Amino acid sequence: MIQVAVMGHGVVGSGVTEILLKNSAEIAKRVQDEIYIKKVLDLREFPDSPIADRFTKDFSEIEDDEDIKIVVEVMGGVEPAYTFVKSCLLKGKSVVTSNKELVAQKGAELLKIAKERNLNFLFEASVGGGIPIIRPLNQCLAANNVEEIDGILNGTTNFILTKMIKDSMSFEDALKLAQDLGYAERNPAADVEGHDACRKICILASMIFGKHVYPKGVHTEGITKVTLDDVGYAEAWGGVIKLIGSVKQNNGKHQILVAPMFVPAISQLSSVDDVFNAILVKGDSTGEVVFYGKGAGKLPTASAVVADVMDCVTNIDRRRNIFWEDSSNETIMPFEDTAYSMYVRVFAVNKAEACVNVSNLFGECNAIEKDNTPENEFAFVTPVMKYSDFEKACKSLEKEGCKILSTIRIADF
Ligand code: HSE
Repeated sequence: MIQVAVMGHGVVGSGVTEILLKNSAEIAKRVQDEIYIKKVLDLREFPDSPIADRFTKDFSEIEDDEDIKIVVEVMGGVEPAYTFVKSCLLKGKSVVTSNKELVAQKGAELLKIAKERNLNFLFEASVGGGIPIIRPLNQCLAANNVEEIDGILNGTTNFILTKMIKDSMSFEDALKLAQDLGYAERNPAADVEGHDACRKICILASMIFGKHVYPKGVHTEGITKVTLDDVGYAEAWGGVIKLIGSVKQNNGKHQILVAPMFVPAISQLSSVDDVFNAILVKGDSTGEVVFYGKGAGKLPTASAVVADVMDCVTNIDRRRNIFWEDSSNETIMPFEDTAYSMYVRVFAVNKAEACVNVSNLFGECNAIEKDNTPENEFAFVTPVMKYSDFEKACKSLEKEGCKILSTIRIADF
């Protein structure tokens, strides 16, 4: 029998205990051992839980229990999760986590401690909820040089954008619905400002580069400025707006960002709706591979956590080879040097004059025509431009009396 502890009994944590209890016989058959939940750490009371007697509020009951060999961390946030996880690893326990903030901030350090002690530190659920992506990147695609990853990595924002696109629902109503359904982070700013997607693309980037990519070095935009007008222009252009985390190799540098993008209807990511996530991986041998599934929610995420626990059980004395080194983000390309084609929506008193200025400043652009455009408004798509040049052109256009209402990148996948 292998004894485990679960730290946190929120949405994901309660799913983990539910799956471990409900599927215990099948799980035991698959790992050739019984997995016994010895302790659950939470500050709240859960008198109705079938294992109510195993709850504790005291971390030392887990840390000091030598019989507990595997600890699941599903508390979220960096502290106290980091202190608890580090101390479990230092005490010789393998750790499984769904905590993307923890992995994105402290992954290199925790992986190093695990490596030095021949322990496992696994985090499949930290990216894409129930979608297998960490293990496939680390194993099935290991023979590839991964050139690019583009992903819809946040279920809440994808849900909100889908409601805006399909039902013309307001941003606020859609967010409220996502929160009620248990998709959103405790602080939904992490979802709608893009920080959650940023943490996830940092984890994927760290995996493929073998060096830690820290979120603070990654340009991140959320969806709070996306309006129903922009959604309409995207449709007229031939696509949809999605919040994309993107990382690619570019002349020895790593181009990485999180931003809303116009995704063309022909792209495999354009039809990924609601709380679903999808991750497009371009390998130099495989070409494009897409991973698709539920990126948030209790049981999908818990399923990935429990699978990691099972992996720890079958590899109790052996470390899975997941590792990246620490770094200071030195290979990240400065954001100003990244280049995209851009959608721009403009208010101009004199549209004819403004269109001439647009061609002079941005080069040959394509106008987007949509029904019910306000009289003084127009939209266009620029050629691919370096962001620093794009910003300069925008400033010059505003000096000519135009007001820029929105700018959104055009996806190239
Ligand atoms: N808030 C996250 C999301 C949860 O919406 O994707 C899963 O990481």
